[in-house]
Amino acid sequence: MLEISGLTTRYGAISALRRVSLTVGANEVVGLIGPNGAGKTTLLNTVAGLLRPAEGEVRLEERAVTGDSPDRMLRAGLALVPERRRLFAQMTVVENLRIGGVTASAEERSERLDEVVELFPVLKEKWGTAAGYLSGGEAQQLAIARALMSSPRIVLMDEPSLGLAPVLVDFVFDLIGRLRAEGRTMLIVEQNATRLLEVADRAYVLRTGEIAVDGMASDLLQREDLFDTFVGSARDEDSKPSEPDTR
Ligand SMILES: Nc1ncnc2c1ncn2[C@@H]1O[C@H](COP(=O)(O)OP(=O)(O)OP(=O)(O)O)[C@@H](O)[C@H]1O
Ligand SMILES: [Mg+2]
Repeated sequence: MLEISGLTTRYGAISALRRVSLTVGANEVVGLIGPNGAGKTTLLNTVAGLLRPAEGEVRLEERAVTGDSPDRMLRAGLALVPERRRLFAQMTVVENLRIGGVTASAEERSERLDEVVELFPVLKEKWGTAAGYLSGGEAQQLAIARALMSSPRIVLMDEPSLGLAPVLVDFVFDLIGRLRAEGRTMLIVEQNATRLLEVADRAYVLRTGEIAVDGMASDLLQREDLFDTFVGSARDEDSKPSEPDTR
């Protein structure tokens, strides 16, 4: 489904990604873990078209899409749930969802609204509420629902449980499990490495811009050394400073 080969992305003189290669098969859930600053967000943002790679290739369903704009990537079937959600705070829940479905016809969009509301009933209750007033858990559901509005062939999620209270972290991982059961293809970044490995098929460990280890998630879960060497504090609930959200 997604094939990344030799991807290098730079911020000025700094190479945040160096010749990264990674694949995601159809109906596969692939995890991407690694310490803060490893380049996880850079990788997802490069694939989604928000950053332009200096080298390398991205193929989506065998088609070269390297350097395509985010809009083209969305139309090609790749949707991103960005780090810290990036909702349109002043817009209502339904307006945010409609933006997610901007590539669809009006008719398809209304069908998909029905589908995502079935998956996330709380969004129906908050239909007319500005996204900025949602609780952390509701906002994360909206961010995922917004991505699903485009009927993506593959969903990229950047730290979906970041900053959420433990009960909401459980909810997000349940949700990922439900999407997995539907056969969704997903590439997921999480600080919460153990939880991610429990729900993923395969995973890659990124360290200072390079893939350090990859393998079956069930095998990586057994690798105590991995957590010490490569993931650092990622076994903690949430090692990144963030606005706590306990609602
Ligand atoms: N806009 C930017 N300009 C310059 N350097 C950047 C920029 N964004 C990220 N970096 C640097 O690139 C490296 C990779 O950052 P990135 O955000 O991709 O890491 P990450 O693995 O997502 O980290 P985290 O776990 O904290 O989200 C870091 O060294 C970071 O400081
Ligand atoms: Mg990040």
